[in-house]
Amino acid sequence: MEIYKLNSSEWEIYRTLRLEALRESPQAFGDCFVESALLSDEHWKEEFENPKSFILVARDGGEPFAMAAAYQEDGEKMKHIAYVWGVYVKKAYRGKGIGKQLMESLLDEIAAIGEIEKVDLNVNASQLSAVRLYERLGFAVAGTLHKELKIGDQYFDEHVMEKFL
Ligand SMILES: CC(C)(COP(=O)(O)OP(=O)(O)OC[C@H]1O[C@@H](n2cnc3c(N)ncnc32)[C@H](O)[C@@H]1OP(=O)(O)O)[C@@H](O)C(=O)NCCC(=O)NCCS
Repeated sequence: MEIYKLNSSEWEIYRTLRLEALRESPQAFGDCFVESALLSDEHWKEEFENPKSFILVARDGGEPFAMAAAYQEDGEKMKHIAYVWGVYVKKAYRGKGIGKQLMESLLDEIAAIGEIEKVDLNVNASQLSAVRLYERLGFAVAGTLHKELKIGDQYFDEHVMEKFL
């Protein structure tokens, strides 16, 4: 399996994986599939304009089947923090260690920036596989936001997790 950083010419790979993630796992992400599917090509390309942001994908010869993304926070007071988002492994590929490898590569990339001291993320408290994955990698729950997502009539709590490098 190969894990690599997407470049701006590959924005359609990002769009495809992200839209599948939002459609397949709506409770796992704050963004909404229906709204995101309407976004212009320019919106998806813009993600690559921030030099402090990157998206890793995993593939095995063919099309990428997993992604994880991060960016370094802006500004003097927060540039020691990286934020992880968009972690997704296609259903058929889960439970094989891909999410873990992808997250380890992401954390390596974050550490290579040189000035990051902690990594933050938000995760739906009901996404037990994801919470467990992050805990295995050294993240701890810093607090819980209640009723943070509302999908139809159903509310979901969200954990804020952090890991010190
Ligand atoms: C969360 C997700 C990325 C995990 O990817 P994965 O490739 O299946 O994970 P891995 O096989 O690398 O497993 C890594 C660890 O996660 C945990 N884990 C994975 N699947 C699990 C499951 N079904 N039940 C409990 N823990 C699980 C385990 O701790 C595992 O470590 P271990 O094998 O040493 O016990 C994947 O399930 C997914 O894409 N889910 C939907 C989207 C999502 O929730 N994203 C997170 C947004 S914050």
